Amino acid sequence: MGAILIVDAFWGDSGKGKIAAYLSQRSKASFCVRAGTGTNAGHSIYFEDGTEIKTNQLPCGWLNQGTQVRVGSGVAVDPEKFFAEIESFDADFSLRERTKIDFRCPIILPEYKKREAEDSRLTKTIGSTASGTGVALAEFRLRKAKQAKDIPAMSEYLTDVAVEVNAACGRRETVVIEGSQGTHLSLALSKDYPFCTSDNCTAAALADDVGLNWQHIQDVILVVKAMPSRVGEGPLPFQLPPDEEEKRGIVEYGVTTGRRRRKASQISWEHFEYAVMLNGPTQIALTFCDHFDPAISGARCRENITENVKRLIDEIEQRANVPVTLIETGKFYEDIIEL
Ligand code: IMP
Ligand code: MG
Repeated sequence: MGAILIVDAFWGDSGKGKIAAYLSQRSKASFCVRAGTGTNAGHSIYFEDGTEIKTNQLPCGWLNQGTQVRVGSGVAVDPEKFFAEIESFDADFSLRERTKIDFRCPIILPEYKKREAEDSRLTKTIGSTASGTGVALAEFRLRKAKQAKDIPAMSEYLTDVAVEVNAACGRRETVVIEGSQGTHLSLALSKDYPFCTSDNCTAAALADDVGLNWQHIQDVILVVKAMPSRVGEGPLPFQLPPDEEEKRGIVEYGVTTGRRRRKASQISWEHFEYAVMLNGPTQIALTFCDHFDPAISGARCRENITENVKRLIDEIEQRANVPVTLIETGKFYEDIIEL
């Protein structure tokens, strides 16, 4: 056992939260840990019975009651969002007693959100979520940010996440590390700067965000969206015209901002192979298969995988030389097939 890193291959919104939740539950992870940049990310899970989980700050992998919930020291924390999320899921999932953040996390102040929202270059040209994450990370680099340990209300939630996760991996327990955004939105690795986010989002960056020693990395799961999407500005290869999305009934809206996502008709293999090179995945989770081939919608056993999806899996496995081990066939948490 050890750490399982969940990283997105493209521009985010691929269902990392759902995959992280599934793997945490299946492996009875001792920790699920949020890595990535900050509260710009929206992670959501929908259950068949109507329950919905939507978070911007906390990871989603806490369905298993024994799993501890953590936020790594490289992730910007917005106290308002942090407390609101604990509050809203505490009754069903007892999050108050099992959630902690690293004492070093940089803090998002209300004025940072205002500064981003008033910066039209950021909101209009780049399409930032204006969550205050970019300003918080910039202030952190200038060594001017407040950290979680400077916020009195957070004192009971502080821990050293690096110590906890490395010790758990040393005991051969499972730690699931949930990234944010996507490989091609990485600050220093995107080829589309400034159309990117405020830090890197690769597997190595996620390990760094939580202080994980690389020797504890057991698996890197690359989450590949069968029809990639991009929200905000910046190039999207094979972008579908909006009316084509409507005709096919595959229109998507962002969890954080409610903005409509632009969608591609197919994977750009150039971007895929670049993501494989940067992340070195050991497994691939292929999501949104129902958008790629509606005939697979809601399938829950291998026998019902369609020929179109089988061909896509083959192509992915050949190009990456890594097995596709999970596929997602619909909106619900239950719509996952293990291969
Ligand atoms: P920021 O990180 O909020 O400043 O946004 C910078 C760029 O990254 C914009 O194009 C956003 O739309 C995009 N972005 C930020 N967070 C996410 C996410 O969680 N999913 C998808 N795109 C994101
Ligand atoms: Mg980071």
